[in-house]
Amino acid sequence: MKSKAKLEISINTMRDEIINIKNEALAQILEAETISELENLRIIYLGRNGKLTVKIKGVKELPTSERKETGPVINEAKDTISNSIATQKNRLKETTREWFDPTIPGIKPKKGHIHLVTQTINEISSIFEGIGFTRTRYPEVEWEWFAFESLNFPKDHPARDEWETFFLDTKPHKRYARMLLTPHTSSGQVREMLRLVKPPIRMLNIAKNHRRESDASHIPMFHQFEGLVIDKGINITHLKGTLEYFVKHFYGPKITIRLRPHDFAFTEPSFEVDTTCTICGGKGCKVCKDHGGWLEQAGAGMVHPNVLKAGGIDPKIYTGFAWGWGVERALLMKPNLKIPDIRTVYSTDLRYLTQY
Ligand code: PHE
Repeated sequence: MKSKAKLEISINTMRDEIINIKNEALAQILEAETISELENLRIIYLGRNGKLTVKIKGVKELPTSERKETGPVINEAKDTISNSIATQKNRLKETTREWFDPTIPGIKPKKGHIHLVTQTINEISSIFEGIGFTRTRYPEVEWEWFAFESLNFPKDHPARDEWETFFLDTKPHKRYARMLLTPHTSSGQVREMLRLVKPPIRMLNIAKNHRRESDASHIPMFHQFEGLVIDKGINITHLKGTLEYFVKHFYGPKITIRLRPHDFAFTEPSFEVDTTCTICGGKGCKVCKDHGGWLEQAGAGMVHPNVLKAGGIDPKIYTGFAWGWGVERALLMKPNLKIPDIRTVYSTDLRYLTQY
């Protein structure tokens, strides 16, 4: 009896002591403000001569039955202390990170912008979309038939040479003949007629063209915007009105156009389209003085009946007009830009590009 009572007391005091040590440790851990303080606490409690370690050693001296009851209490205390040291360490690491001031103005990342030519294409598109045109785009690598044959060029006609065409070294097609890099967006005319089957057609074809030429006003790859309108009763006044509308919106209200007789296989009658000089307004400057204040800008005309036929459209019922205009040329003629050489438009020098 006597020894049992003594035993209970010793277990109880041992357990209480351990719990006290644990609570004391936890309180100190919570108050610790630095990682090294926490490291010290770990040594104080769990180190080789630490408060809890000493107790653990003491357990070994207890009789077996007592050991069994005290063991779990000690293990629990040990785990709790080391876990809370670890948690507290992490918390301190996070809160001692460099202080961030959200009120300091940010560093602006460099922004790019849409290329000058794309800007121009977008501007042209929105002007024509506003009067009912549909934007299309036809292949750059094309058959001879769409670029020439269907456009009323007799086979091997010398006029084809005017387009300085690149032909591809591939096997010709039985019907469509040789493959080429399209030299003008007019190759989209018959494609559009075949696509839509029946008029009305109001096409705006903006695409890349390739020609074997390069100087201050020509580049081997350039864009054109081609218009094609086909319906009943379409005549030259519609052509003139449409292009007049375009130049006023693109260059400004003072700019007008004139049509000069010309010759294209696929239009009859055919014209060259001049605008009043966009640089000096027609007074006569370096750019326009040799042309009496006018700038030559595009080709146009009434769609030739043979072209309508190639597209499956009856020329007795329908008529149409078309034009082809260089995008880069239209861009060069914008007042204020002062681009001296068309080739610079495709420069990759950021000092040049960021100006626009
Ligand atoms: N395709 C012609 C050129 O590139 C322009 C043009 C288009 C002329 C449509 C008349 C009608 O020069």
